[in-house]
Amino acid sequence: MKYSLYLLSALGAITSATPCPRQTSSNPSTDGLSFVIDGETRYFAGSNAYWLPFLTNNADVDLALDHIAESGLTILRTWGFNDVNTVPANGTVYFQSHANGVSTINTGQYGLERLDYVVSAAEQRGIKLIIPFVNNWDDYGGMDAYVNTYGGDKIGWYTNPDIQNAYQAYVEAVVSRYVDSTGIFAWELANEPRCSQCETSVINEWATETSAFIKSIDHNHLVAIGDEGMGLDGGSDYPYTSYEGNDFALNLAIPDIDFGTFHLYTADWGVTNNTWGNQWIQDHAAVCESLGKPCLFEEYGIKDAHCTDELVWQATSLATTGMAADLFWQVGDTLSGGQTANDHYTVYYGSSDWTCVVTDHVADITGA
Ligand SMILES: *[C@@H]1O[C@H](CO)[C@@H](O)[C@H](O)[C@H]1NC(C)=O
Ligand SMILES: *[C@@H]1O[C@H](CO)[C@@H](O)[C@H](O)[C@H]1NC(C)=O
Repeated sequence: MKYSLYLLSALGAITSATPCPRQTSSNPSTDGLSFVIDGETRYFAGSNAYWLPFLTNNADVDLALDHIAESGLTILRTWGFNDVNTVPANGTVYFQSHANGVSTINTGQYGLERLDYVVSAAEQRGIKLIIPFVNNWDDYGGMDAYVNTYGGDKIGWYTNPDIQNAYQAYVEAVVSRYVDSTGIFAWELANEPRCSQCETSVINEWATETSAFIKSIDHNHLVAIGDEGMGLDGGSDYPYTSYEGNDFALNLAIPDIDFGTFHLYTADWGVTNNTWGNQWIQDHAAVCESLGKPCLFEEYGIKDAHCTDELVWQATSLATTGMAADLFWQVGDTLSGGQTANDHYTVYYGSSDWTCVVTDHVADITGA
């Protein structure tokens, strides 16, 4: 404490013309129902850019992160996994290969060194990253990439000892690489873990064990599940049920889970009225409030029409007790190889949609 006070006053003397010296970078934390980022306790805006660690050109990473930072987005979620069963040609990024019952982590130039660059570039810009370790879906390998060599199926992924050993070895490799980095917001167990028609105890026990394992390696960073927030009281539609093996409140109560996550895709979930999303946000916030942990509205979007109901969801999140931040899906930009992936949820930097989804929302949050 004394040391940092001394440092601040020394900086103040040197940069006396600057009224507000740059906040020292630190690890994000929670304070009741809020997040604390670099000394600020308030609501934060962010986004997803899953593709960042798969870029092979550092200048592209720098440009995308410059645009994200200058727009006032603070939390950024990106993929910390890229699993394959067949090693691709040199020059194509992958992080782990699974073949013949063996998992091999790629720490090389087109392996975790790409994630290293993203983490250090985020750190330099005050951007805080959320990094999940495996995908429920087959994009970038996913749980099926493990299943393909260890056997069983996606239901068995959560309990197969060989798979869990390989997964934990990968988690340890990634976490220990950035344990001292202030560029990490949180670790996530998976992207959208589902265990269809399983007892909710399966995901709950896996999440309990994995979150404790991460905290045993890294006391510095927050941990969350990365789930869609399914399985909660408040409605009878499919996402409220535990059909996919999730119980939102049960999982948020796990001691080593620091905040709740939920996603919102009405059309993909068979919900025809986007107004439904406002209740979905409020029902999660109520669970977060009752458990005393912040809620992160971690992925949301509407295809193509970004400046209508999506903005209402943002306003609902911002206005609701228990909500600490929101991250729309997803950032797009124009880089050396052209435009980044357009899945119709993409909001491109510099577009008029960027103004409504990002610029206006950030202004609403900061009162600018
Ligand atoms: C992969 O490509 C890079 C860049 O062209 C090169 O420096 C490296 O030696 C190659 N690695 C292998 C294993 O061929
Ligand atoms: C959507 O739901 C809201 C709230 O229940 C309702 O007011 C609105 O009329 C509905 N819209 C349509 C198109 O059904």
